[in-house]
Amino acid sequence: MKKRIGLLYGGKSAEHEVSLSTAMAVIQALDFEKYEVHPIFITLDGEWLTGPQLTSPAENVEQLKFDSNHAPNNIKQFIATHNELSFDIVFPLLHGTNGEDGTVQGLLEVLNIPYVGNGVLASSAGMDKVVMKQLFEVAGLAQTPYTHFIRSEWQSQQEAILEACEKLQAPLFVKPANLGSSVGISRATNREELVAAIELALRYDRKIIVEQGVVGREIEIAVLGNDHPKTSVVGEIKPLTAFYDYDSKYKDNSTELIIPAQVSQHALAQIEEMALRAFKILDLSGLVRADFFVTADDEVLINEVNTLPGFTPVSMYPMLWQKTGLSYTDLIDELIRLAMERYDEKQKLQYNRG
Ligand SMILES: Nc1ncnc2c1ncn2[C@@H]1O[C@H](COP(=O)(O)OP(=O)(O)O)[C@@H](O)[C@H]1O
Ligand SMILES: [Mg+2]
Repeated sequence: MKKRIGLLYGGKSAEHEVSLSTAMAVIQALDFEKYEVHPIFITLDGEWLTGPQLTSPAENVEQLKFDSNHAPNNIKQFIATHNELSFDIVFPLLHGTNGEDGTVQGLLEVLNIPYVGNGVLASSAGMDKVVMKQLFEVAGLAQTPYTHFIRSEWQSQQEAILEACEKLQAPLFVKPANLGSSVGISRATNREELVAAIELALRYDRKIIVEQGVVGREIEIAVLGNDHPKTSVVGEIKPLTAFYDYDSKYKDNSTELIIPAQVSQHALAQIEEMALRAFKILDLSGLVRADFFVTADDEVLINEVNTLPGFTPVSMYPMLWQKTGLSYTDLIDELIRLAMERYDEKQKLQYNRG
């Protein structure tokens, strides 16, 4: 029997468009003999639109954006659809807030629907760069020094915050704590730029992290699994701009991906080991892409993990697996298998004290 799969994409997030490209690619790769595919489009306003079943791959992205006049238009309808169809599994293809951050995962948990990828805790811890870095610290993972604060602290003690930031070596990287795809991130080399960077980041989040800049290559590794995760070969991103910003990630193709990346045996072993340690401390499951800096002295620093990494066929995560010997279609099948494995394990838990 075909597995009934709900694809969740779009989202009330700055990464809405990225999610649509991912959905397009996943739909192209899904085996329609094996899966019954139901698209669920979340608009930028946060409306959930459950569209008609797809019987063949969508031809263009417009086809995936339903009009609320033609489709049921809120989360209750998603629940009603689930009650009617009973999804075997949901694949959240959402990046950023309201999707990669544990909220949607929580909804799916409450509805008791198996879903692909990381659970509630891992998703939310991985989304918040401050919580993530604090956990990295607990796990003893080397990383760049940083400081953090919230909006009201900035309003009441700006000078003290600026001084704390200036204890770090320039250039500084200023980031909203809860966002991805480089949205709201800037590089600052003096106080004026730092203030502007903080003001910009505060438009996207109430919590801000400021990091000491690292001079090094950006090396990434993919992890796949549940209790016994495996690592892929490593890849390098070479942005042609000052850093890997939103446009270089998604718009102007100005980033080169080199897979496998040439790194020393020492750095490679460190990256593999650190990625698995990060996987464990954040309680990750299914998939994660772990991102590192490797300095000229061959020092390895962890930058971040992405609990729902870019997932088009030319994105780093699927490419890393392809070069490791797992095709895009097989990777999707494996993620679905891992999701079922985690769900089945959870069903065995005892909920009474009996
Ligand atoms: N501390 C840092 N030192 C040097 N470059 C950085 C630093 N932090 C971020 N960058 C650059 O900015 C990019 C985006 O930052 P990152 O923390 O990975 O945010 P996102 O979650 O948006 O991917 C990185 O890929 C890197 O190019
Ligand atoms: Mg990143």
